[in-house]
Amino acid sequence: MQVIQEQLRDFDVTGFQENLVNWFLENQRALPWRESKDPYRVWVSEIMLQQTRVDTVIPYYQAFIREFPTLEALAEAEEDQILKAWEGLGYYSRVRNLQTAVKEVVEKYEGTVPNTREEILSLRGVGPYTAGAILSIAYGKAEPAVDGNVMRVLSRVFIIEEDIAKPATRKIFEGILYDLVSKENPSAFNQGLMELGALICTPTSPGCLLCPVKVRCSANQKGIQAELPIKSKKKKQTVKQMAAIVLKNQYGEVLIEKRPETGLLARLWQFPNMETTGMDDQRKLLSEFLVNDFEIGAEVGRAIQHVEHVFSHLVWNITVFEGQVKGRANLESETRKWVPTDSIEKYAFPVSHQKIIQHSLMDSSLA
Ligand code: ADE
Repeated sequence: MQVIQEQLRDFDVTGFQENLVNWFLENQRALPWRESKDPYRVWVSEIMLQQTRVDTVIPYYQAFIREFPTLEALAEAEEDQILKAWEGLGYYSRVRNLQTAVKEVVEKYEGTVPNTREEILSLRGVGPYTAGAILSIAYGKAEPAVDGNVMRVLSRVFIIEEDIAKPATRKIFEGILYDLVSKENPSAFNQGLMELGALICTPTSPGCLLCPVKVRCSANQKGIQAELPIKSKKKKQTVKQMAAIVLKNQYGEVLIEKRPETGLLARLWQFPNMETTGMDDQRKLLSEFLVNDFEIGAEVGRAIQHVEHVFSHLVWNITVFEGQVKGRANLESETRKWVPTDSIEKYAFPVSHQKIIQHSLMDSSLA
């Protein structure tokens, strides 16, 4: 990293800060989380914006703040309520961790989000990026906040050829930012870097003609901006074949179960389902599964839908069957329920199972 230190010595840091901050102040998008410096609101927005696009986040953020306007309101909410508010955003551990963390802020810091890096980092689900974002945006502290956008911009400005897919690479950028971040307006500086990455210094075909720091960008000078950053490919996703069932009884109810306490999509609701291999007789397997796992002898009907859902590391390929059962097999438990089909929207489902609801329980009600 010697080379970067030398580069920084000849770099007009003040000029870069001024160009970036002025550009941000004039060109920033009006986004709902920019209307307040409340550390709780900044925190919620930054957690939502991880792995999720700005356009998707906006309505979720607005509804979430309406429902949980303060840190205390979120701390006191039921888990099912917060999962419902997050339904469809994905990566649900984000909101469970956020609630754990705000509870800690209430108990340990009298409801005030702490303002030191060390304390913020000790909160559940708060990593170096989120800590830096809260400290700079809400508290005006000159701390780095390095996300994918920021790494892309800086890898071009300084021609940094480290692999940004490697977790260790983030530290290199943090090191540079301690020297680079504006001490006068760290909030506008950090948000300016993110905004530049989102609007101009985009992954493909960056809009260098409009860039406020073009003359300070080494990659632009050499014409190699499109070749940066270096990012190794993720390993291939695994594909899981699954069978699920929309099982109805004669009382207009449908069977749902809660997912396990930990792991993928923990504690969300779903239709009973199992993993199969592509060539299995899925209907027979489902029927045996209902007997063995639920003690339900049901008539498994035809396949009515195929749902594909792509996670970052995994693809679910679900064949959905319909089924009928007589009576209401006695399974009342906290994690398995017969629910009236018209109150299914009270429960939080993963997106893949929302598609099943849409197909089997909403569209058909129109018929
Ligand atoms: N991405 C991450 N944080 C952001 C923010 N505060 N505004 C816009 N995009 C972002």
